[in-house]
Amino acid sequence: MTLTGAGKIAGVVGWPIRHSLSPLLHGYWLDELKVDGALVPLGVPREDFARTVLALRRAGFTGVNVTVPHKEAAFALAHVADAAAEMAGAANLLIFHPDGRIEGRNTDAVGLRESLRAGMSSLHGKTVLLLGAGGAARGALLALNELGAAKVHILNRHADKAVSLARALGPAMQSELLPESLAHWRDVAGAADLVINTTSAGMKGHAPLELDLTVLRDTTTVLDIVYNPLETPLLKQAKGRGLKTIDGLGMLMHQAAPSFEAFFGVTPKVTPGLRAHLEKALHA
Ligand code: ATR
Repeated sequence: MTLTGAGKIAGVVGWPIRHSLSPLLHGYWLDELKVDGALVPLGVPREDFARTVLALRRAGFTGVNVTVPHKEAAFALAHVADAAAEMAGAANLLIFHPDGRIEGRNTDAVGLRESLRAGMSSLHGKTVLLLGAGGAARGALLALNELGAAKVHILNRHADKAVSLARALGPAMQSELLPESLAHWRDVAGAADLVINTTSAGMKGHAPLELDLTVLRDTTTVLDIVYNPLETPLLKQAKGRGLKTIDGLGMLMHQAAPSFEAFFGVTPKVTPGLRAHLEKALHA
C-alpha cells in the first residue's frame, strides 16, 4: 500500500463528542485515499477549549474541526479568518500553520451550497423560506446569496431575531431578506421554491415543527439540515405531500471535504459509497 500524508493527525473538538460523525467520515476518506493519518475525537468542556487547542497545535496536529458549543470560541482564537467565518462570527475549522498562525474557516455555508447544487436545479432568481434565525441560518443565508436566490423569507419563532439577522446581513447580500414571524408561514409559503429548516426542531429528542405543507406548491423542494434522524418529521411530511426532499447528510459530507483537504492535503470526493457508510452508522 502506498501511503501519503506522512502520518498527519487532526482532531474534532466538541462537548459532548460521542455523537460526532466526523471520525467516521474522515476515516472513510483516509482509507479510500490511502492517506496515513487520523482524525481523533476530543471531548473538551467549554472552559478548557482554548488551552486544549493551543496544546494540540504544539503537539503537531494539523488542525481541528470544531463543533458545538465551541464555534464562537474557535473564531475568537483564530489569527486570520475567511469571509464566511467573519460573517458567521463562528468557525468550524481551525488550521494550524507551520509559522504558528491559526486560521479559522467556516465551511457550513459551502456544505449547504454544494448540497443544494447536487440536489436541485439552479436557485437563481428563486424564492426561499428559511426557518430559523440562529447560527445555522447565518451560514445558510451566505450559501443562498452565493447561489443567486432573489428573495429569502427568514421565518423565526421570535420574529425580532429574524429582523436582527436581516439587518445584520442584508446590506452585504444581493438576495432580498424578508424577516417574518414563523406564525406567518401560511401567508408566504405558497411563494417558496425551496424551504430550508435550520432550527433544531425535529432533531432526535426535540419536538418537530408543526407546519401545514398543503400550502406549498407541488414543485417546492424541502431541505432539512438536521441529519439525526435522517428522515426528520418535516421531510417525512414533505415526502407524504409528494415534494422533493434533501436530507442533512449532503451538507454534512460537503462541509467536511474542505477540512479533509486542509488536514491531509488530498481532495476527497462526496460519493454514494460515503453516504451509504454514514447511513449505516446512523441507522445502527
Ligand atoms: P444554531 O446556531 O444551531 O442555529 P441557535 O442559535 O440556538 O442554534 O438557534 C436555534 C434556532 O432554532 C432559533 O432560530 C430558534 O428559534 P428562536 O430564536 O425563536 O428561539 C429555533 N428553534 C428551536 N426550537 C424551535 C421550535 N421548537 N420551534 C421553532 N423554532 C425553534
